[in-house]
Amino acid sequence: MTDAIVSLLREDRQFLPSDSFRAAALVNSKEAYATLYERSLAEPANFWREATDALVWRQPWTVFQEGTGGSSTFFTDGKLNVSESCLDRHLKTPNAHKAAIVWEGEPGEVRVLTYRELHREVVRLAAALLDLGVKPGDRVAVYMGMVPEAAAAMLACARIGAVHSVVFGGFSSEALRDRINDSGAKVLLTQDGAWRRGGVVPLKAMADKAVENCPNLAHVICLRRIDSPAKCPIVLREGRDHDWATLLAAPRSVEASSLAKTPEAFSAEHPLFVLYTSGSTGKPKGLVHTSGGYLAGAHVTAKFVFDLKPTDLYWCTADVGWVTGHSYIVYGPLSCGASCFMYEGAPNAPDPSRFWRMIERHGITILYTAPTAIRAFIRWGDEHVVKHDLSSLRLLGSVGEPINPEAWMWYRRVIGGDRCPIVDTWWQTETGSILVTTLPGAVMSKPGSAGLPMFGIVPSLVTEAGEPCAANEGGKLLIDAAWPSMARTIWGDHERYLDTYWRAVPGKYITGDGARIDQDNYTWVIGRIDDVLNIAGHRIGTAEIESALVGHPAVAEAAAVGRPDELKGQALVVFVTVKSGQTAGPELRAALTEHIDKEIGKFARPDAIRFADALPKTRSGKIMRRLLRDVAAGNESKGDTSTLEDLSVLAALRGGKDEE
Ligand code: WTA
Repeated sequence: MTDAIVSLLREDRQFLPSDSFRAAALVNSKEAYATLYERSLAEPANFWREATDALVWRQPWTVFQEGTGGSSTFFTDGKLNVSESCLDRHLKTPNAHKAAIVWEGEPGEVRVLTYRELHREVVRLAAALLDLGVKPGDRVAVYMGMVPEAAAAMLACARIGAVHSVVFGGFSSEALRDRINDSGAKVLLTQDGAWRRGGVVPLKAMADKAVENCPNLAHVICLRRIDSPAKCPIVLREGRDHDWATLLAAPRSVEASSLAKTPEAFSAEHPLFVLYTSGSTGKPKGLVHTSGGYLAGAHVTAKFVFDLKPTDLYWCTADVGWVTGHSYIVYGPLSCGASCFMYEGAPNAPDPSRFWRMIERHGITILYTAPTAIRAFIRWGDEHVVKHDLSSLRLLGSVGEPINPEAWMWYRRVIGGDRCPIVDTWWQTETGSILVTTLPGAVMSKPGSAGLPMFGIVPSLVTEAGEPCAANEGGKLLIDAAWPSMARTIWGDHERYLDTYWRAVPGKYITGDGARIDQDNYTWVIGRIDDVLNIAGHRIGTAEIESALVGHPAVAEAAAVGRPDELKGQALVVFVTVKSGQTAGPELRAALTEHIDKEIGKFARPDAIRFADALPKTRSGKIMRRLLRDVAAGNESKGDTSTLEDLSVLAALRGGKDEE
C-alpha cells in the first residue's frame, strides 16, 4: 500500500462549517440535508419539480422517469430551451445587468459581460449558425481557449438545438480531427490563438490541419482573440472560413433573427452535447448528455454545493473543454444567475501569485480547483499567497482526482484562512453533475473524503467477486440507479455504453473507480480501477496512449501504466519494445514524445519512456500491467508472477531504470 493510501485510511479529522457560514447557508444542518436527500429518493418527481422550479419548462413534464438503468429517460415529456433557462430568464429580473462572466485574459485585460450582453452575443451567434444552415441535432465542434465566446458558442448551439462537441484546446490536430469525424460535426468554432504562459497556442492553424481530413465539415468560424498577424498569423479559406465578428455583423435572414430571438423548445431528452473522454479502448467515447436531465443536475448541484448567493463571484478554474467547465463554468452557475469569473491563462503566468492576485483584484468569493493545482501551489511556496488579501473567499472546492489530506489541510489553512468550508466533489464526465460531496453549511467534512451522496444518488460498493462490501471495506464503486444528469449513450455506440457502464452488475452503474464507504456513509475514492489513468486530473486511457505509440514506425509493442506522483497524483510511464533494426535511445525517446504530442496532445506526454526487450506477458499473451505498475513505481512486486511467461523479462525491466 502506498503512503497516500495508508494516510487516507487513517484519516479521522473532521471539520464542521462555522456558525456564520451555516447561518446563511441554503441547507444548514445535517437534518435539513437528510430530509432533502430522503425526499429525493422517496418522492423523486416532487423533489425534482421543486428543485428545478427556476428553470423554464416551456412544456412542463409529467413523467419524471421512464425505463430503468441505462435505458432511462427523465422529464420525458417536458420541453425546454437550455439557453433560455441560462440567459433569457434572468433578463426579467434584477440579474439582467449583473455580470454573468467576469473575464481576465492572460495579458491582464478584463472584460465583463452582463447577462444581457451575453444573451445578445448568444442570440447573434445563434442567428449566424441558423443562416449557415445548422439544424436541430446537427453537431458543432468547438475548439477554443478560455474566452467568454467559448461559453457563448455552447449556449448558441443549445439555443438552436445543435449538439456541441467541445474539444479541449490542448488536444492536437489529429485528436481534433478524430473527434470532428466521429461526431460528424459540420461547423467548427475556433479562434486564432490563445495566450498560454506568455506564448500563443495557434488554435486556428491546428484546426486547419485537422479539417483537411474532415469531409463533413462545411464551415469554420474563427474568433480573433490574439488579433495580430505578427503574433498569430491565420489564413481564412474562401468559402469555408468566416471571421467571427464579420459573420455576426452581416445581415441576417428574417427567419434566423426571429428564431434566434425566440428560440424553439426541445424535448428534455434532446441531446445537448457530446463530450469525448477516455475509456479502456483506444477509441475515445463521445458521451451524450441531454437537455433536461443534464441541466437539472448541473443547476441543482451548482445551487446547493456552491451555496450560490447573489453577492458571489464564483470561479471554477477548469477548462471549458472538460466536463467540469461545461457543468460548472457554463450550465450550472449561469442557470442559477451567478456571476462567474473566467481566466484565460496559466496559473503561474507571469508568476506563481497570479491566482491570488486575481482573487484579491476581483473579490472572488468561491474557488473551485483541482488537487494537482493545489499541490503545485504548495510547491511554489506560501509566500506567493500570503502577500495577497484573500478575505473575500468564503468557500473552496476540489474536483477531478482524490485530494490527499495534506493538500486538503493546506488548502483550508493557507487559501481558506481556516474559515472557508471545502467541498470535495466526486463525479465524472458520464455523471454530468456532482454525485458525492458535503453540502458546505450542512455537514462536517473529512479531509480526503468526497463525502455524502447528492440528491437521488445511492452509491454502493462491491468486492471483486461482486459481493456487497462491509463498512470501510474497499471495492468497486457503483451507483445503484439511474439519475437525471447521467449520459444517455456513447455517440454512435449504444452497445458500448451499456457494456461499459450497466452490464457487469445488472441495473447498476459502474463508475470504474475504487472506493470505500465509512461508518458515517462517507465515500473515500481511491482512484480508477480500470485502464484509465488520472494524470494531473486529466483522464487518459492507457489504450489510447498505447495505440498512438504502436502507430509509430519504430515501435513493436507498448504498455502504458500510472505511477504514484506527488504532484500529479499519477505520472504516465510507458514501456516500449522496438522493431528489429530500430535503435532504442534518446533520439527515439524524443521522437516518441513528439509523436504523442501530435497524436493526442502535449498534456498526454509520458513522464518516462522505458525501452525493454520484451514486456511481461501471461501465457495467454496478455500484458501484465500489474507487474509493470510495480516496476514503474520502483516497488518489488508483491503480486503473483506464476502466470508470467518469462521471469527474465521482469528482471530485465527492473534493471532498465536508468533509461528514463
Ligand atoms: C476522478 C471529472 C476523487 C475519478 C469531474 C473519476 C475524483 C474521474 C474526484 C472522472 C474526487 C473526479 N475525488 N476522484 N473529488 N473527482 N475524480 O470524467 O477517478 O474527467 O472517475 O470528470 O476523476 O474524471 P472526468
